[in-house]
Amino acid sequence: MATMRHTLFVFIAVSLILISLSCQQPGGNSTGSEYMPDMVYSTAYEANVYYSYSLNTWDSASVFTRLDLMNPRNPVAGTVPRGYAGYSFAHNPQEQQAAMAMLTGQAPGSQYTPANGHVPYYYADTEEERIRATAEIIANPFPITAAGLVKGQELYTFYCGICHGDKGDGAGYLVRDPNPATGDAGGKYPAAPANFMLDAFIDSSNGRYYHAIMYGRNMMGSYADKLSFEERWEVIHYIRSLQAKVRGLEYSETANTLNPAYGVPGASLAPEEPMN
Ligand code: HEC
Repeated sequence: MATMRHTLFVFIAVSLILISLSCQQPGGNSTGSEYMPDMVYSTAYEANVYYSYSLNTWDSASVFTRLDLMNPRNPVAGTVPRGYAGYSFAHNPQEQQAAMAMLTGQAPGSQYTPANGHVPYYYADTEEERIRATAEIIANPFPITAAGLVKGQELYTFYCGICHGDKGDGAGYLVRDPNPATGDAGGKYPAAPANFMLDAFIDSSNGRYYHAIMYGRNMMGSYADKLSFEERWEVIHYIRSLQAKVRGLEYSETANTLNPAYGVPGASLAPEEPMN
C-alpha cells in the first residue's frame, strides 16, 4: 500500500513537472505561453479594430473563419460604444476636454484607459458641413506626446504621404514620380493633393483635417475606416509638427509655439500613466 501511494505520488509529481515544462517559459523577449489565451484575445467580433491572433483555432473549431473574425466591423447601429461615450456626449469643448482628460489619465485620480470606441461624427459629407467642421473643431482632444507623434508619423507615411508627400508639401511619390505605364512625367495620380505647407492649411483649424480624413474630398477617398479616432488625431498632430518645422517653430511634447489652440503639449499635463 505504501509503495503504491509512493508510486502515485512520484507519478503525479513527474506529470506536474512535465506539464509545466511543456509550456514555454518566459524569458528574454518571450512572454512564454499563456495558460488560457482565449481569455486575453477576444474571439468576439470587434467594431473598428483589426484583431488577428495567430493561435486562434477558430478556423477548425468554428463556422466562422479567423479571417472573418479579425476584420474590423461597424458598430451596431444605435448602440453606445465603449470608450469615448463621454467625449461623444459632451456639450461643449470644455466638457470634451474633461472627458478626454479622464480617458487619457491626465485628470487627478484617473488612469489611462485604452479605448476602442467608435466616436460619432456629427457633420455631413457636404461643402457647408466641411466649413462648419472647420469653424467648430479647433483643438486636438489628445495631448501632444512623443509616442503619439511617432505613431502619427508612421500612419501618415503609410496612408497620406504617398500623395501628400513625406514633408506634407503635396508631392508624394504617386504624384511626383513618372508613370512608366503611360510615359506620363506627371505621375500615376492625376489630381494635385493639398499642400499642407501653405499658409491656408497651416492657419486652418483641426476640423478641416478631421473632416478630410472622415470623408475625403473630391478625388481623395475617406480614411475613416482605416484610422481609429485616436489615430486620426495622431496623424493631425504629426502634420502640425511638419508645419511647425517649416515655420521654424516647435510642436512637440514639451512646447507648441505653432498655435496653442491646436494642441496641448503632453509634458505640461504631467501624465500619470505613459500614453500609448
Ligand atoms: C490617393 C491620394 C491621397 C491620399 C492617400 C490622401 N489624400 Fe488627402 N487629398 C488628396 C487630394 C487629391 C486632395 C485635394 C482634394 C481637393 O481639394 O479637390 C486632398 C486634400 C486633402 C485635404 C484638404 C481638404 C480641404 O479641406 O481642402 C486634407 C486635409 C487631406 N487631404 C488630408 C489627408 C490625410 C490626413 C490623409 C491620410 C490619412 C490623406 N489626405 C490621404 C489626395 C490624397
